[in-house]
Amino acid sequence: MTIASEPADGYAVRSRILNFLKYGANSNPADPRVPFYRHPIFVRVAHWTNVIVLTVMLMSGLQIFNAHSALYWGYQSDFNHPLLSMVAMQNDDGSLKGVTQIGPWQFDTTGWLGASQVNGQWAVRGFPAWATIPGPQWLALGRLWHFFFAWLFVANGAIFASLAVYRGHFRRDLKPKVSDITGLPAEIAHHAKLQFPKGEAAKTYNGIQRLTYFTVIFIIGPLIVLTGLTMSPTLDSAFPFLPWLFGGRQSARTIHFLCAFSFVLFFIVHIVMVVLSGTWNNVRAMITGTYEIEQAGGRHG
Ligand code: HEM
Repeated sequence: MTIASEPADGYAVRSRILNFLKYGANSNPADPRVPFYRHPIFVRVAHWTNVIVLTVMLMSGLQIFNAHSALYWGYQSDFNHPLLSMVAMQNDDGSLKGVTQIGPWQFDTTGWLGASQVNGQWAVRGFPAWATIPGPQWLALGRLWHFFFAWLFVANGAIFASLAVYRGHFRRDLKPKVSDITGLPAEIAHHAKLQFPKGEAAKTYNGIQRLTYFTVIFIIGPLIVLTGLTMSPTLDSAFPFLPWLFGGRQSARTIHFLCAFSFVLFFIVHIVMVVLSGTWNNVRAMITGTYEIEQAGGRHG
């Protein structure tokens, strides 16, 4: 069927889908849009560098975790009382069963955690092969990658934070306001109804964004670096306050793991919000700097 002979409804559905992909769930195609320079170059460079660096760090980190796939609290590993463990057990027929234990609870996670396939063969491993780099099992190189990219993460973060303060990005866009906390219930309600800011209000981040970005950049970021440093015995003997600060090397490892998964959780919600508020407009703005602001109608219009 040619496009010309398609029913009018088909056009309407297609243009609504296209409009959703470009401008998000609550945009009105009829409203005018004006370009607005939203992200300075240092934010864009730091952001995309971070996406690459964090992806490598997470996947090489899971490789290192797999060398001993359990977490503990305190100074020593108490093998009998892990906070979390991913192990393999043997079924009666000899096949492997992956079991994940979180505190007193046990879950069958065969195929995902504890036991999964590598090149068609079942293997005992914490996280599956597709989640670890530079290969299914290569601890030494995984550690080298992790430590190399950790310094890139620190350098990128330090340059970004300095420029953010110096260029006013921190004060203007990232520093949470008291009204971000008092207005949180209303902001959550707006998000739940897929009502994203328009007009003047769309020129800055909303309260939820400020609170989340601030937490990710200035709390979880430094925390993951400090807990990472605490896992080094050499640094612990040079700076004994490090293990003291986190209640032991094993606690630091657990907090490090929780920070990594906070990044993963942030990433999932971040992508969902980017899609709901307009994939094309958002991603193009994070690449070129320019965002199209819808002028009339809707919330804060
Ligand atoms: C490791 C993964 C990621 C992290 C940690 C991350 C973190 C952040 C942070 C902290 C900001 C605020 C930047 C600032 O203004 O200083 C931001 C903004 C943004 N990110 Fe990401 N991001 C990640 C992945 C992605 C991906 C994969 C996309 C695209 C699909 C994306 C799209 C955006 C967009 C469009 C904005 C601007 C939002 C707006 O203008 O309202 N991010 N991200």
